[in-house]
Amino acid sequence: MSKNVIVIGSQWGDEGKGKVVDLLAERADVVVRFQGGANAGHTIMTGGRKFVLHLIPSGILHPGKICYIGNGVVLDPKCLIDELDALYNEGIETVGRLFISPAANLVLPYHKLMDQSDEKRREGDGIGTTLRGIGPAYRDKVERCGIRVADLFSPERLRARLALQPAIKAQYFSCENDERCDINKIFNNLMDMAPRLKPLVADISLRLAEHKKEGKSILFEGAQGVMLDVDLGTYPFTTSSNTSVGGALTGLGIGPKMIDEVVGVVKAYTTRVGAGPFPTELSDTVGMALRENGGEFGATTGRPRRTGWLDLVALRYACRTNGIDKLAINKLDVLDKFDKIKVGVAYELDGVQISDVPLDISDLCRVKPVYKEFEGWMVPTTGLTSYDRLPEKAKEYLKFIVEILGVKIGLISTGPGREATIMM
Ligand code: GDP
Ligand code: IMO
Ligand code: MG
Repeated sequence: MSKNVIVIGSQWGDEGKGKVVDLLAERADVVVRFQGGANAGHTIMTGGRKFVLHLIPSGILHPGKICYIGNGVVLDPKCLIDELDALYNEGIETVGRLFISPAANLVLPYHKLMDQSDEKRREGDGIGTTLRGIGPAYRDKVERCGIRVADLFSPERLRARLALQPAIKAQYFSCENDERCDINKIFNNLMDMAPRLKPLVADISLRLAEHKKEGKSILFEGAQGVMLDVDLGTYPFTTSSNTSVGGALTGLGIGPKMIDEVVGVVKAYTTRVGAGPFPTELSDTVGMALRENGGEFGATTGRPRRTGWLDLVALRYACRTNGIDKLAINKLDVLDKFDKIKVGVAYELDGVQISDVPLDISDLCRVKPVYKEFEGWMVPTTGLTSYDRLPEKAKEYLKFIVEILGVKIGLISTGPGREATIMM
């Protein structure tokens, strides 16, 4: 592995980034989140224990590793404190190991109310957000009425900026008699949390530049996935941040040469939570079997995930738009019991075969996948740690992915735990 590696989701999220980051964190000095917020749910299984992290980088479970949350993250302070407490209760020491950017925008209670209210307004056309207030917090950031971490330590500025909110958000504040709009209460709660957060504040961009000079190894942890990127994804059925490599540059204040290698995490099939096009979706018993065998229920919301076959058209798009150097293929073991495995190799749009993702959403909603069918291997791969021990049919499946995408495999995951991994 190169020095500074970025790990991004290559599909619609939940590819298993938490497991991959936890694994690669062993060799890194620093692990960094750069976008998204507590909409993420990154699962790590280690020593028989399960951790689900929403805001704190997945490197935190490795003693001694430094973790940063950059300015591109929308940070829910209550969620951060709860997560710190939960780690403490599990015996994970975080003091002196986690730092947050003063320029990160806060997710506040009214953002969650707005998220809920927006979803209600969208009626049958909802995005199916995580209701964590992510979209409204990013909207405030772009509107330049957001409240940043730094504001917590300037009470007068904080009070003034909070006081602006009811007028800016009159549509939400006037029709809802909800304590999530109680500005005084929010102010007081933020004042209570501020002393706890103050020691965590650091100039992340500066620190990363210093780490580079010191020759330290930095691991960048993406959240969500390329197809949920607000620019490159299946807009408007996306999240509100740049989940792609570019998000790391602006979300941390680093230049492109800081990143030596891009790792795209790929589930051996596809899942999606929430609404929006999903060309290879299976709404039949095969899809249900993928959900059952893969335990496909959201790590943040518990919602059942939509399931389908691997979509190489969408994956090729993710590789191209992000310059993915290596793939981390996860959950190969979930396919062990399927006698036939299909892979989407092209789309058919109005009777014409196409090999790229159409950028018009209504075209993408209409495409039909063209499949190549593989015979399943029908033997357990769970827990395998050597490529040579994989069944030949599983190797054929993997070789085909490499051939079509033109990207090498860096690791294959055969179970949720750290040890169930084939390093290539
Ligand atoms: P993330 O958001 O990308 O970090 O992924 P999630 O944590 O939301 O979802 C991935 C799920 O798959 C988690 O429950 C992981 O424990 C689990 N998982 C990860 N890798 C593997 C694997 O190779 N095999 C199996 N069976 N489960 C895995
Ligand atoms: P991780 O990091 C899967 C989806 C939501 C919804 C859309 C917008 O665990 O892979 P938002 O709350 O962000 O405004 O919701 O994005 N979504 C995710 N899906 N994994 C995630 O994160 C997701 N974060 C957001 O389901 O469709
Ligand atoms: Mg997840």
